[in-house]
Amino acid sequence: MRKYVDFLVIGSGIAGLSYALKAAKFGKVCIVTKGKAEESATKYAQGGIAAVTYTPDSYEKHIKDTLIAGDDLNDENIVKITITEAPERIKELIELGVEFDKNESGKYDLAKEGGHSEFRVLHHKDQTGLEIERILLTRARENENIEILENHFTVDLITQHHLGVEVNRRSPYITCYGAYVLNNENRQIDTILAKTTLMATGGAGNVYATTTNPAIATGDGIAMVHRAKGILEKMEFIQFHPTSLYHPSEKPSFLITEALRGFGAVLKDIHGNEFMHKYDTRLSLAPRDIVARAIDNELKISGEDHLYLDARHLPKDELIHHFPGVYAKCLSIGIDITHEMIPVVPAAHYICGGIKVNEWGESTIQNLYASGECASTGLHGANRLASNSLLESLVFSHRAVIHASERINEIEYCHEIPDWNAEGTVMNEEMVLITQSLKELQGIMTNYVGIVRSNLRLQRASDRLDILNRETELLYKRSILIEKICEVRNLIKVADLIIRMAKERKESRGLHFSIDYPKANEIGTIYFNPED
Ligand code: FAD
Ligand code: SIN
Repeated sequence: MRKYVDFLVIGSGIAGLSYALKAAKFGKVCIVTKGKAEESATKYAQGGIAAVTYTPDSYEKHIKDTLIAGDDLNDENIVKITITEAPERIKELIELGVEFDKNESGKYDLAKEGGHSEFRVLHHKDQTGLEIERILLTRARENENIEILENHFTVDLITQHHLGVEVNRRSPYITCYGAYVLNNENRQIDTILAKTTLMATGGAGNVYATTTNPAIATGDGIAMVHRAKGILEKMEFIQFHPTSLYHPSEKPSFLITEALRGFGAVLKDIHGNEFMHKYDTRLSLAPRDIVARAIDNELKISGEDHLYLDARHLPKDELIHHFPGVYAKCLSIGIDITHEMIPVVPAAHYICGGIKVNEWGESTIQNLYASGECASTGLHGANRLASNSLLESLVFSHRAVIHASERINEIEYCHEIPDWNAEGTVMNEEMVLITQSLKELQGIMTNYVGIVRSNLRLQRASDRLDILNRETELLYKRSILIEKICEVRNLIKVADLIIRMAKERKESRGLHFSIDYPKANEIGTIYFNPED
């Protein structure tokens, strides 16, 4: 099948849907999404969306918190843009029908999370993402200018490379003409030609064995842009959420929202003793990188697999009212959080880097935009402040539409693009090989490229990854195209980029912590409280 659209959108999370709804005012939009449209990280977002709503909060405070969390590697201009444009984007969400919780006086009930100096997180119970995804998807389905192709896996972007023109990462005019998309229902590869394309494929948490990310988070967009010779950056900054539910038989790991700590829950070691005072004066509400490393250190000292989050002292009715999702999930595995501590462990949660974009969401490839978790705007620096990512998606999808819509009438389709040239002919007889490669990859990344890194560990990771990469490329070339092989191939590419960028960063900064480059106020993985 060959199709022509004005705006191609790859992904149906908050970044893709919020862009599509606005782009539809200027032309035909086609959203391709690899599973059911609602399946996305967005759907699982719990804590909420950060924005300055009332005094005593201010833009200055939100900006400062974002910069502190990001260990000053943020782009300050992007931070200012995001935070000052936040109220307008939130207002639009509310106008679309998203409901954020209010308190008895009718004001928005703002929550607090790690690294925030004020209560500023708008939320819908502990299921904010579900509410946002539901409304955005409903509005997109109602829109006549938007077509949603579910169960369609985007394999690669189309550039002049497909016309036989060689390009490299320094070529000034690489142009995106659309994408090759695998229709999972008929196994055909469609050619979708587009005037502009938005990459909104989300994160890559499945590069690790333990992650809060849903199965769709396989870094496809990041890998595709790399193959198309776009520029990526800051991939070494992988955020581990300090508190995912310790329940080893379950994938993905269920998140225990940081808002629960903002509500008063306290981290405790395996013996039920508080320990965060050893690491940071902000205790359980220190920024995520610090809390995750503190937990990692405690687990290494104790040799245990998990520690605890204690919410037993909090008012029972309020706890259940504000955190119905966490309460129900824990109860389903036999833990009543009003009486028992919650076993928790850190899990890979968010990739701060990705496809390099400018303030209008433009990638380094012409007519290709990126937004959401797959993009690197410069907002997060070396560590994302909690609940800033849903916000970032809204702000930069909006900006990308402004930019793309101004140019859409000047852009021509490239009719000469050939259809997909299928090389592989072998039906994959041994799916188990792909599954094993995925497990190996996740083992390598978890063991050698985790919360605490070293030069030796990173080298071990790249040596082992080389073998996996060679094997998978061979398999990819000779097999008939199926989604699983493409995903593993993409994850291996993402892992390779994480390791390479981690090796290049000769310092400990934000989420990238190496014992070879201790920070001034830290010794190895043990931290000082500067006030001790
Ligand atoms: P996603 O929502 O992940 O959507 C990606 C879309 O791309 C999906 O539809 C997927 O199917 C599609 N896709 C991927 N690859 C392909 C392909 N090859 N072809 C076609 N389609 C493809 N952030 C906050 O700000 N606040 C929170 O409270 C919060 N809580 C979180 C809780 C959890 C459990 C998780 C996992 C994340 C949380 N985050 C939170 C982070 C935030 O949810 C994500 O960063 C954000 O939702 C990403 O949105 P997105 O649109 O970029 O990607
Ligand atoms: C959470 O609710 O703890 C997740 C918030 C986030 O990842 O921004």
